[in-house]
Amino acid sequence: MQRANPKSYFLKTFGCQMNVYDSERMAEALARDGYSETDDVAKADLVILNTCHIREKAAEKVYSDLGRIRVIKDARKRDGKETVIAVAGCVAQAEGPEITARQPAVDLVIGPQSYHRLPELIARAETNSESIVETEFPGDEKFAAMKAPRRVSSPSAFLTVQEGCDKFCTFCVVPYTRGAEFSRPVSKLEAEARELAAAGAKELVLLGQNVNAYHGEGPVGRTVGLAELIRRLAEIDGIERIRYMTSHPRDMSDDLIAAHAEVPQLMPFLHLPIQSGSDRMLAAMNRKHRAAEYVDLIARVREARPDIALSSDFIVGFPGETDEDAEETIALVKAVGFAQAFSFKYSPRPGTPAAGIEVQVPEDVKAERLQRLQALLEEQQLAFNSQVLGNTIPVLFERRGREPGEFVGRTPYLQLIYAAGDGDLTGQTADVKVTETRRVSLSGVISAA
Ligand code: 5AD
Ligand code: SF4
Repeated sequence: MQRANPKSYFLKTFGCQMNVYDSERMAEALARDGYSETDDVAKADLVILNTCHIREKAAEKVYSDLGRIRVIKDARKRDGKETVIAVAGCVAQAEGPEITARQPAVDLVIGPQSYHRLPELIARAETNSESIVETEFPGDEKFAAMKAPRRVSSPSAFLTVQEGCDKFCTFCVVPYTRGAEFSRPVSKLEAEARELAAAGAKELVLLGQNVNAYHGEGPVGRTVGLAELIRRLAEIDGIERIRYMTSHPRDMSDDLIAAHAEVPQLMPFLHLPIQSGSDRMLAAMNRKHRAAEYVDLIARVREARPDIALSSDFIVGFPGETDEDAEETIALVKAVGFAQAFSFKYSPRPGTPAAGIEVQVPEDVKAERLQRLQALLEEQQLAFNSQVLGNTIPVLFERRGREPGEFVGRTPYLQLIYAAGDGDLTGQTADVKVTETRRVSLSGVISAA
């Protein structure tokens, strides 16, 4: 690769796997343009913040980061060095020109749909005195243009199969920031998956904001769902494991459930957010299903794959949530039993329907409900992990640990596990006997490679 551009960039990623994936693609585009990565902002000619809008006060945190980066930019300028500051991701998409208005040191605001134009836009930003804001939705063009040899930094590789969402849950910004649901064609995904496998990937994590709504163009123009996509990707040599996230209960087809019974590469793990156990709250959130339907769905998934590890997202303190509603969430968690879960206090996102509801739940009530829910979820996580104590399970090792000779991997149930081994185990699958279980990780001894 020619190094026409001996510049360095600093890239900070916030939020979900989708952003991690996008950051990897941006890094690849920059590498092709001759940029090298630095972890020292003060040395960077280009600073990119790939932002997330999901967490509370996300935008405020971005502005305070930008304030600090501006000071560095000014100091570099005094040394005769230019710095381009770019804001990418969901805050960029949501706030657009607001960002450069509030922080004029920002040169480029770029939405997730324009990443393929990153090098071109940076070049323009370097010569422009005005800031550039690119937050349109041009569709598939992005994926077509981001055609780059995929590098893999881990044996577990992300593959974005779907983006955007048409569900419009009343608390969520995704339909506004990521746009309408869009599925990538099967042939492109198969080609990218083959490239990933050739580059050393052993596991594919199929990503999408509403991944099980996947309906990509298949052979002879036929539409293919997620289950069929998984079956096809499982045929690729070298792909030992497949996972997918994040799913919506309404899109959990019979075919996808059957794939959990039939496709050995499909790992026994399902992240299926329910958000609340109260039908009243589910309706107010526009989740389009009732709690009992979720419980029923889980029963069918467990029938297909009895040992499946279940994960979910919960929101406490959605506007109008009463103590009874909160109790219903606790009851649902007890009825289902989760291997792990994420839980959040509701926080209003500008522009979403729920943000406009006048009566919000007081902060201390939210905090109390969250604490109670998390205590239960943590108890369940510990219980789930302790079930595998003494078992021997196949572990895909992803990286070296901190101790000499230590490796870190994942069980089929996505549990993090530590084991000691000889040589380099990265990318290898080995049978490991579990000797210790904790809430967030396990330890074990390799019994056979
Ligand atoms: N407040 C709190 N949590 C939210 N999430 C999305 N929007 C909000 C919000 N406004 C949570 C949901 C979703 C996860 C990715 O983030 O639980 O499933
Ligand atoms: Fe947001 Fe998920 Fe609801 Fe889509 S399904 S609107 S991404 S919470």
